[in-house]
Amino acid sequence: MQNVDGKVVIITGASSGIGAETARVLAANGAKVVLSARREERLKALAGELGSDHAAYLASDVTALKDMQAVAALAQERFGKVDALFANAGIMPGGNMSELDVTGWMNMVDINIKGVLNAMAAVLPVFLEQRRGHIVVTSSCAGTRSVPGNAVYCGTKHFVRAMLDSFRQEAVAEQSGIRTTTIYPGAIKTELLNTVAPSETKTMVEQFYENVGLEPDAIANAVLYVLSQPDNVDVCDLVVRPSMEA
Ligand SMILES: NC(=O)c1ccc[n+]([C@@H]2O[C@H](COP(=O)([O-])OP(=O)(O)OC[C@H]3O[C@@H](n4cnc5c(N)ncnc54)[C@H](OP(=O)(O)O)[C@@H]3O)[C@@H](O)[C@H]2O)c1
Repeated sequence: MQNVDGKVVIITGASSGIGAETARVLAANGAKVVLSARREERLKALAGELGSDHAAYLASDVTALKDMQAVAALAQERFGKVDALFANAGIMPGGNMSELDVTGWMNMVDINIKGVLNAMAAVLPVFLEQRRGHIVVTSSCAGTRSVPGNAVYCGTKHFVRAMLDSFRQEAVAEQSGIRTTTIYPGAIKTELLNTVAPSETKTMVEQFYENVGLEPDAIANAVLYVLSQPDNVDVCDLVVRPSMEA
């Protein structure tokens, strides 16, 4: 296995949870990380913790293509290149369809689907030009099967799986040198459940996360693993769940 020393990695959803921990792990292994999320104070604190040689940040919203293009431009300006994108920003408001949380549905489509596409659209011109690049996207175990109580979220995470695998095959046919990885986390202790409305189901899910959920470093180490592979190895799909999660 090679390593990530000197690699420049853009991370969306870097202000908390999986994204923030991945930034820490990659930077500790010598990567340069470019942090993107909306909460600027969080990004500033994390970039300060990692040091200016290893981190840059830009308050940015994945739903805006121009924001993602500005993040890609910052990466090139500060570190001279982009080696990988970790498209990780996502939300999970939760709830049955019968609750008609139309705003929540549309926000999930905007962030979990269009946000991934915006981030990819921002880095693809760079990757195509340099004939090399790696796109890693956070799906979910909810992207491998359907479960009740999270229908639209499941749909957005299935989208990631289907889109990225089709793109992977196009990249092979076009010999563009671009690799793709879809990561499917199980229960990870982050702020993801904060946006779920209070309910009996939410309390049960919180208890489950508390009892068996993994710390975000389980996913951060998985990202380190996929980004550490030599150019001719593509780890395409990786499911990482607590050993006590069915
Ligand atoms: N935790 C789990 O059990 C679990 C399981 C499977 C998959 N996942 C996936 O893992 C990913 C990361 O989630 P997490 O668990 O680490 O939760 P988290 O701590 O809530 O992190 C979510 C991140 O997404 C960012 N984000 C949300 N909306 C955004 C927007 N419009 N523009 C830019 N950034 C935005 C948030 O930053 P700002 O609010 O500062 O913008 C935050 O940094 C998500 O895609 C989630 O679906 C999580």
